[in-house]
Amino acid sequence: MRMRGKPWARPELAVCPFNIPDPASHRGNWKAQFPNPYPLRMELGCGKGEFAAQICVQEPEYNYLVIDIKSEVLVLAKRALEAAYQTAYGPGHPVENARVMSQDIERIDLMLSPQDQIQRIYINFCNPWPKNKHHKKRLTYPRQLMKYRSFLQDGGEIWFKTDDDPLFDDSLEYFAQCGFSVRYLTRDLHNSGFSGSYSTEHERMFSAQGIPIKFLIAVKEPELPQTSEVKTLP
Ligand SMILES: C[S@@+](CC[C@H](N)C(=O)[O-])C[C@H]1O[C@@H](n2cnc3c(N)ncnc32)[C@H](O)[C@@H]1O
Repeated sequence: MRMRGKPWARPELAVCPFNIPDPASHRGNWKAQFPNPYPLRMELGCGKGEFAAQICVQEPEYNYLVIDIKSEVLVLAKRALEAAYQTAYGPGHPVENARVMSQDIERIDLMLSPQDQIQRIYINFCNPWPKNKHHKKRLTYPRQLMKYRSFLQDGGEIWFKTDDDPLFDDSLEYFAQCGFSVRYLTRDLHNSGFSGSYSTEHERMFSAQGIPIKFLIAVKEPELPQTSEVKTLP
């Protein structure tokens, strides 16, 4: 996502009470960062935060780690969360169940450990990286899925949405290789009757172009498959 320079982004995040400036220092101890001991969920590549702002107030019985690599984008997610909280609970209400942080997801294992027991991961419209030589940068690539496995609880889920058919098809193979079973799949989310999905800014853009949204729920099985190797690692 291209963003114009925002010199105010980092200073604004620095004084935000629900921004985490040093995510790695909370590895293994994320539950302590929230006032309520709710199950932990996370959104990878949150962009401007439209999705996070909805789900945090619509499903308040969970705590959320909201992550993007770019401070210039994350600061907009921070503002979206504040606005959603204000609408839902009134002015000045603190953002209780979300923490925003700038973090490279390719290095997500630096900030999460098996003790964190993440219950669900949302990956919405990540970059499809269409060239073969770039596939390893995909957020659903096996190298990444194996990292997510390490901190997802058994039976934990990845909810994955994309506009991109090749990414979706390849991801089905990646999930199978890495010990995830697919509990739900649709190639046209908005005509599927599925409820419980919140729209993102890219989702609205692609839908307006008439592109069907591909969506799946992958569930972490306790064991890796014995018959298939993770061929595409590292
Ligand atoms: C195409 S946008 C999608 C934004 C939003 N999820 C949506 O659906 O509208 C992808 C987002 O992922 C972020 N991103 C890409 N690679 C990342 C990485 N390695 N670590 C963290 N964030 C990343 C980008 O900065 C961008 O905000």
